[in-house]
Amino acid sequence: MTHTEIYKPDQVRTIRYQRPHLRPENDVQKDAQKVIQLVAERCSLDLDVLLGNIRTQRVAQVRWVAMHLLNQLLHMSLPAIGKALNRHHTSVMVGLRRVDAQIVADAVYAERLAEVKSRNAESAARYFSKNARDWDQIRSHHIAEQAVEQQLLELIGTQHFGSLLDVGTGTGRMLQLFQDSYTDGVGIDSSLDMLAVARANLDASGTSHAQVRFGDIFNLPVARNSFDVAVVHQVLHFLDDPARAVRKTAQALRPGGRLLIIDFSPHHLEFLRDENAHRRLGFSDELMSEWIEDAGLDLRSVTHLAPENPDGNALTVSIWLAQDPRMLMANDLMADDLISSTSLSPMEKV
Ligand SMILES: C[S@@+](CC[C@H](N)C(=O)[O-])C[C@H]1O[C@@H](n2cnc3c(N)ncnc32)[C@H](O)[C@@H]1O
Repeated sequence: MTHTEIYKPDQVRTIRYQRPHLRPENDVQKDAQKVIQLVAERCSLDLDVLLGNIRTQRVAQVRWVAMHLLNQLLHMSLPAIGKALNRHHTSVMVGLRRVDAQIVADAVYAERLAEVKSRNAESAARYFSKNARDWDQIRSHHIAEQAVEQQLLELIGTQHFGSLLDVGTGTGRMLQLFQDSYTDGVGIDSSLDMLAVARANLDASGTSHAQVRFGDIFNLPVARNSFDVAVVHQVLHFLDDPARAVRKTAQALRPGGRLLIIDFSPHHLEFLRDENAHRRLGFSDELMSEWIEDAGLDLRSVTHLAPENPDGNALTVSIWLAQDPRMLMANDLMADDLISSTSLSPMEKV
């Protein structure tokens, strides 16, 4: 594994999260209400009973399920869940523990819960897809974003390549950024709202050699071994299982293909979980290297773009560049063959 640390403090990206602007609290509350309603419907319980004071075992169990889903899908804090369900946060803590214990003890229960969760996934996708326009606004308001994009262009280089896969394409920004570098571009996203914005953006920018499609990063609707470059830009921190997402994306790369992952370095902005659906507060280089290696790729470089004037809400952006080693291995073998078929030793040949 090659791991080159590139640190360019002069190239910065500063994102200052403005809480009311990005995730209005009432958006979270609306989504929470939807989840609670769905749980009540699926468990055939009256909503008033679910939110009321009856404490029978059955009602309590349904409440615990609602608590679990609010926590898992919307990443709400204990007090926020308590508020949504008219409960004290300590009751929420007890409820979450009960569900965790039952998941371990009862496979049928775990399966049913997984089913309800997957039904709610659609609502969770809607939850952050509402940020589509905000995301673009934030980008344009922060001039340092250009430094990240500049760095991405430098890392990919000037050589033209055949195909680009942009996973979690959102507004299609990466497809536009690299539009002069690839012949065919494909963007995948699980949010129809985001895809609508992406299509409009691609039309407006005349990026006719890129298309966007609905799809899930965990079940990509693309052929294996087919892309020269894949990009996962600011997506992993929204996912429950980012390591698996890295593995799935790596499978789409053809031998020698490159993967660019762009996300935040570890940070402590807890409110992003509640207010902006973040599931992870950034990623360390150690963790990302492990995931990249598990996905069968070689880590080529890590770049940290730290904020110029760090303040409480400014985040450092990390860029991890990895490569599928298969073509390189083939090249090495061919070189070995070539060397052994001559009378020169490897050193002389070099
Ligand atoms: C914050 S946006 C980033 C968009 C874009 N990559 C960019 O940086 O401009 C995150 C995107 O990931 C998408 N996403 C989240 N989970 C996904 C999944 N499981 N499969 C595909 N896309 C997903 C969301 O719909 C959203 O468009």
